[in-house]
Amino acid sequence: MRQVDQIPPLRKVLSQFRSRGERIAFVPTMGNLHQGHLELVRQAQQRAEQVVVSIFVNPTQFGEGEDFESYPRTLERDARLLREMGVSLLFTPTDTVMYPDRSLETQDTMWVEVGGLSEVLCGASRPGHFSAVATVVSKLFNMVQPDVALFGEKDFQQLLVIHHLVKALDFPVEIVGVPIFREQDGLAMSSRNQYLKATERKRATEIYRLLQWMEQQLESGERDFRGLELSAGKRLQQSDFVLDYLQICNPQTLQQADHGENELVILVAASLGAARLIDNCRVSLR
Ligand code: PAF
Repeated sequence: MRQVDQIPPLRKVLSQFRSRGERIAFVPTMGNLHQGHLELVRQAQQRAEQVVVSIFVNPTQFGEGEDFESYPRTLERDARLLREMGVSLLFTPTDTVMYPDRSLETQDTMWVEVGGLSEVLCGASRPGHFSAVATVVSKLFNMVQPDVALFGEKDFQQLLVIHHLVKALDFPVEIVGVPIFREQDGLAMSSRNQYLKATERKRATEIYRLLQWMEQQLESGERDFRGLELSAGKRLQQSDFVLDYLQICNPQTLQQADHGENELVILVAASLGAARLIDNCRVSLR
């Protein structure tokens, strides 16, 4: 596996792949890789001859008071895992490679504006987050120019934003969403799970149990979506979660669904101790 942190050597290796007519699959990450990331890599390997992974803890997508400083950085271990999986190229750009013109203080840079999708759910509680994600992903797409890029469905809203980004800005890349990878007890895998203390870790699975319960309620005919959100939200709060949102939404628009809709996604974000957890569940009532 080659590891590069500058754009010219990245482009050199990529052009060697392309000159041999090989397809390139790309998995952008912020590192601290877990089985969910490795599943993205496995699926990437099925879609292209060469897999490129990036690790960059993007400062701009963290809000004030969020965990940018403490975000786990485990580059050596990550590189070993990727090497063992047979990944071709690991791109680990520095802040100045990613944002050469930007002073982190003055925010003097260009941004991709996302619009409506970035104003709801995680976007409402993390203003600017999806614009920062869309910007860094655009830059990474321009650097790597992959044929296909893979993202986890745990970050459902992010995946939708990226689908819109690619469509709106005509990036010639196929976007593949990969289903959520879960721990044995159902907790969705996330780099932030390691902020959970032992007792919190046990309780954290309540999120998944509630999603399953809501899914069952919907499948057995419950159509009072707001009532269902309310009672599930109360249950989470009783287990000491601080609820950000728990909503039954239209999976395309992320607006709250009304009782006539059949294609739904239940989206939840809640904090337990220092960990902000998100999860979701697609429900098709047809
Ligand atoms: O999902 C992530 O890890 C990040 O948001 C991404 C897509 C790598 C952009 O920084």
